[in-house]
Amino acid sequence: MSNRLVNIFSGRATKYLAENIAASYGQELGNVIVTDFSDGEFQSSYEDNIRGRDVFIIQSTFAPADNLLELLLMIDAARRSSARNIVAVIPYFGFARQDRKDKPRVSIASKLVANLLTAAGVQRIITLDLHADQIQGFFDIPVDHLYASSIFIPYLKELNLPNLTIASPDTGGTRRAASYAKYLNTDFVVCYKQRSKPNEIKKMALVGDVKGRDIVLVDDIIDTAGSMEKASNLMMENGAASVRAFCTHPVFSGDAYEKIENSPFTEIVVSDTIPLKKHSDKIKVLSTAELFAEVIKRVENYESISSLFKF
Ligand code: R5P
Repeated sequence: MSNRLVNIFSGRATKYLAENIAASYGQELGNVIVTDFSDGEFQSSYEDNIRGRDVFIIQSTFAPADNLLELLLMIDAARRSSARNIVAVIPYFGFARQDRKDKPRVSIASKLVANLLTAAGVQRIITLDLHADQIQGFFDIPVDHLYASSIFIPYLKELNLPNLTIASPDTGGTRRAASYAKYLNTDFVVCYKQRSKPNEIKKMALVGDVKGRDIVLVDDIIDTAGSMEKASNLMMENGAASVRAFCTHPVFSGDAYEKIENSPFTEIVVSDTIPLKKHSDKIKVLSTAELFAEVIKRVENYESISSLFKF
């Protein structure tokens, strides 16, 4: 065991998850005070001595961008307080869908976020199901990229679906769906999705046979739920026996909850990287806390992390 001193802190966006990660790690969250100013600015300050400590700061960076800014300020404060190692645990890495210059005169926001985190002083990133694997390469520091499949697959196996077929709601998710299908030794199908503009789908077509099958759609993000709504209807129109979804990050913007309620989904399984705004009998949340706690232990003890992901 490492004899380094570990302190775990949380920003305000995902404190419920940070509390569970710290408990699973075996300690309480460190004390941070956030002062809000009347103009909307804020300041975080550590109430514990972190000189020479390994500091893990937990915060998902979903909208608003203040969540990202709060993480940056906490990293900067840790650096200025002489922490020995500063690790950002970012369960949901926001701005990840802007990962390339896919039209003229746009930013590559996820590269900019990587630059900002590095400039603030972070020395390692731990994150889960990045929208695009190549975002790891936007950093010149270690990135431990975890997979929610290690949580989803045991639950999926418990469901014991008799005619399981894995599906991806778009061609971008083919690799993810194929790896689930390969591990579960089952078929997979893909939807071809054309967008007219962000968050709006122009057309969706199914590639593969779903007749009589119990479909499980896998994806990294549900945002407006437009993709899932369209894909689930497409599956049922093509004769599927049932349709479920396993999706890591429940962004759930706009009328996502209403779409889910009115969809043919039997169940949508998500993780707790983003807090839910509403309850729905159709949505089941599986926790990532134990996974993150185990990874923090392994980082501290210089142990393998890839060996956690047999799925
Ligand atoms: C896109 O490539 C992502 O993997 C998700 O499919 C997408 O962000 C979902 O967005 P929405 O729920 O708004 O259709």
